[in-house]
Order: sequence, then structure tokens, then C-alpha cells
Amino acid sequence: MTCFTKPENLRVLITGAAGNIGKCLRAHLSGRYGLLRLADIVEQEPARENEEICAIDVRDIDSIERCMQGMDCVIHLAGIPGADAWEKILPMNIEGCYNVFEAARRQNVPRIIFASSNHAVGYHRREKFLDNTVEPRPDSLYGVSKVFGEALGRMYADKYGMSVACLRIGTFRTPDHPSEARQLLTWISHRDMAELARCCIEHESYHFVVVYGVSNNLRNRWDNSNVKFMGYQPQDDSEVFAAEILAKDIPEDPIAAQFHGGFYCPLEFVGTTDRIS
Ligand SMILES: NC(=O)c1ccc[n+]([C@@H]2O[C@H](COP(=O)([O-])OP(=O)(O)OC[C@H]3O[C@@H](n4cnc5c(N)ncnc54)[C@H](O)[C@@H]3O)[C@@H](O)[C@H]2O)c1
Repeated sequence: MTCFTKPENLRVLITGAAGNIGKCLRAHLSGRYGLLRLADIVEQEPARENEEICAIDVRDIDSIERCMQGMDCVIHLAGIPGADAWEKILPMNIEGCYNVFEAARRQNVPRIIFASSNHAVGYHRREKFLDNTVEPRPDSLYGVSKVFGEALGRMYADKYGMSVACLRIGTFRTPDHPSEARQLLTWISHRDMAELARCCIEHESYHFVVVYGVSNNLRNRWDNSNVKFMGYQPQDDSEVFAAEILAKDIPEDPIAAQFHGGFYCPLEFVGTTDRIS
């Protein structure tokens, strides 16, 4: 596998680079690597030094394969970023995710960092502390698409020897602060997000990891002790926003409040929550 120890030699591709997380990673990581290739379906700001802009559509594997050439690592962010109709989830998050992994394999890219989501495990009860070993419990078709991406990552790691990190991102927001009570648990700041990506890009060797993308929040309910070896040490804590947010006293939906996935859980929900252990 490629040596990941010298950042200045690394060539890193970001899909969905024009989006919220993509822009944050560009702002924090540009200049650090030999090349940052920024891929999206929409127009982007012109390339600066050590950057390249490239047009892709995740539904078109040929467009992705062209962008993969010569890359050491891919951060896959592109797609539908929340609960949506099956007609969008299927081509963008399921077929699109397959296209990205498969294009990487064909081009011998050794590492993929996949933007999964806490909604892959959203129907776990909130009183339970979640680590990387909990079973998938998606709270939406969006969550199902992230479980699919994680399973795909596991298969590409085991079958093809790719190094894969799945980031179960909590709540990343621009502007950079939480805005409701649940986000005091799930928030990840911009600098912590960039640092998490940096750790995953640069760690010299891992096979397959699941990491919760969350800041150092006092109210955090997710356990990253399995990936201590990667050196991710989040700096920010949502607690500094707690008094202001809680003063608004906005009650959480009674179903949302029971589960990690929050407001995705009551969407289209039928019956009572007793059946969910
Ligand atoms: N923001 C969060 O709190 C959060 C939480 C959990 C997971 N995630 C995941 O992180 C990733 C990025 O999230 P974000 O908040 O930056 O979303 P975003 O919507 O801001 O960015 C997504 C990007 O994907 C691009 N895109 C859409 N369709 C495309 C296509 N067919 N081909 C190529 N590019 C396409 C969009 O143009 C956009 O720039 C998503 O996969 C999302 O599911 C985000």
C-alpha cells in the first residue's frame, strides 16, 4: 500500500467538494498535500496552487474513473445529504457510492474515506452509548444508503485490500455552531471535521474503521475509543452554546427524543415505539 506518511506527496480527491463539508476541507487542507483534486457536479471556485477542479456526476462511472487517476486517497462526500425520496437516494447514494468505490478499485486507489452518517444507526435508543460495534439501525432510506456504503467499504477492504474509513458524521453546520438541543450531542465543528479527515487521510495503515464524526462535546453519546490509534483529538465542545440553545426551551418531538437519529425517526413513523428495543 502507498506510504501515507508524507502529506506533501499525497494526492487526494474530494467528491462533493463544492458542498458544505467539501468547502470546509478545501479551506483547511488545501496547500497541505501534493495535490487536492476537487470534484463536483456544480461549478467551483477556480483552482489555486496544488489544486485541480474536476467535473463529475456520481451517476456516471466513467466521469469518476477519470478523476481517480493517480490518486492516493478519496474522500467521498457527494450525494444526497439527508432524508429524501427513493428516486433520488438510489441513483445518488447507492449506485453513486458503488460507482465511486468501483472506480477507485479500477484505478488502484488504495484508500477511501466515506461520509457515512449517524442516521445509519439512528433507531438505537438514545440512552444507549454507541460504539463502532452496534448493529446497523437506519432511521430512513438515507440511513439505509449509508449502511450500504459502509457494507460496500467493508467488502472493498476485505476483498480488494483497500483501506477504508467510514465516518458516521453527526451534525456539521455552516455557520459553525449547533442550533438545537439534540445537536449539543451530535455537533462536529469545522476544525474538528477537517482534523478528522486529516487523520484518516494521513494515518499510515488501517484496514477498515468506523469513526463517529463528532466534536469533544460534553453531551456526546458516541464512543470512538476503537480509533484512538488514529490520533483524532477533537478540540471543540458544543457546551459553550448550551445555555443559549436550552433557553429557547423548544421541546423535541417525543419520538425523535427517544433515538439517536432525532427528527428523522418520526418521519413516516407508524404505530408506537415499544417495538424498538
Ligand atoms: N452535513 C452533515 O451534518 C452531515 C452529516 C452526516 C453525513 N453527511 C454526509 O456528508 C456528505 C457531505 O455533506 P454536506 O453537508 O457537505 O452536503 P452538501 O449537500 O453541502 O454537499 C454535497 C455535494 O455533492 C454534490 N453532488 C450532488 N449530486 C452530485 C452528483 N450527481 N455528482 C457529483 N456531485 C454531486 C453537490 O453539488 C454538493 O456540492 C454527504 O454524503 C452527507 O450525507 C453530512
